[in-house]
Amino acid sequence: MDLDFPQPGPDGSAISRRLTRRIRTEIRERGWIGFERFMERALYEPELGYYNNGSVKFGPRGDFITAPELSPVLAGALAARLAEVLRPLDDPVVLEVGAGTGRLAVDLSRALRALDIRARYRILDRSPELQSRQRQRCAAAGVEARWLDEFPAEPFDGAIIANEVLDAFPATCFVKRAGEVRPLGVGWAERRFAWVKGPADADLSRRIASLEARLGRGLADGYRSEVSRGLPSWMQRIAAALHRGAAFILDYGLPEAEYYHPQRAHGTLICHYRHRAHDDPFLFPGLQDISAWVDFSACARAAREAGLTVAGFTTQGQFLVEAGTMPAAQIRPEAANLAAVRALKTLILPGEMGERFKLLVLSRGMALEPPPGRDFRARL
Ligand SMILES: C[S@@+](CC[C@H](N)C(=O)[O-])C[C@H]1O[C@@H](n2cnc3c(N)ncnc32)[C@H](O)[C@@H]1O
Repeated sequence: MDLDFPQPGPDGSAISRRLTRRIRTEIRERGWIGFERFMERALYEPELGYYNNGSVKFGPRGDFITAPELSPVLAGALAARLAEVLRPLDDPVVLEVGAGTGRLAVDLSRALRALDIRARYRILDRSPELQSRQRQRCAAAGVEARWLDEFPAEPFDGAIIANEVLDAFPATCFVKRAGEVRPLGVGWAERRFAWVKGPADADLSRRIASLEARLGRGLADGYRSEVSRGLPSWMQRIAAALHRGAAFILDYGLPEAEYYHPQRAHGTLICHYRHRAHDDPFLFPGLQDISAWVDFSACARAAREAGLTVAGFTTQGQFLVEAGTMPAAQIRPEAANLAAVRALKTLILPGEMGERFKLLVLSRGMALEPPPGRDFRARL
């Protein structure tokens, strides 16, 4: 990919050099690190990783924009769905995982209040830096919330929300060559990080063999892709945290048959640096976002194994249109300007975020109608 990347300033360069040195040391000591380890350190290394180093990430001055940052429309649609879950519950909790700048926390709390729903708002985010931004934003907006260090030990009644969190889970990359599955990891060549093939990994080979059995076809020679090995244990934690209620998981992703489609032979890894989307995870370590698309079939399987019910699966576009985001009420006269309309189009149109982003609803201890919009559970 030939993109024109703006150079980072001196502070950013210094952070990136320090992080690079640390990761290189680990590679030198171990001879090899898997890609998930590289991604873990590039994103979450204390003080230096992308989510911990103080750089602006969201919005025009950052690297990417998310649905809650674009417009309060997603918060409004989610609040309407959450109302159905929360109304029958005594003293419900809303737990948002990975709250970014706190924008959704503020908009969702307001939208719930407007629907006369009282819920205790909790946030769990692994980035201390973003936690402090969330605290500032919630305090400024008069939104009461509490921050957790881990999932609550006691199961609660309520809802869990995670928007664009699963794509940030460290991904295990692999390649299939001459019938053998090998993990892809990171080495050092020509003064920068470089892809290297790692030693055979029995767990990974088993996972890909079961994937191929489910697909009813083998992956072609040279096929590269990713799996999220952290996903099943995260689902177990979601299931253990929910006594009665639902989880709403939104992200860019696909059902397994499309995720591992023969034509998607280079995987789904995607990096964002100053609003340029590209596929080089080794560019400016610590200064760019690295993510992988979400395999929603794997999510659904892990959720069922953890004891949750898959209550719905649809696209963000379908969800927002059917949730009634189009009526003029959502775009208030004073806000009925070009920017609000443009944001709505970005959220809904199939060529923008409307189809790439999906909503998976998981429930426990309550019967839930699938979310409005077409229900695509049969594709999972
Ligand atoms: C791409 S941002 C999305 C932020 C926000 N939800 C939004 O849509 O604007 C990912 C967020 O998830 C957090 N995060 C990543 N992995 C996490 C994990 N395992 N547990 C909790 N938070 C996590 C990051 O710190 C960050 O706040």
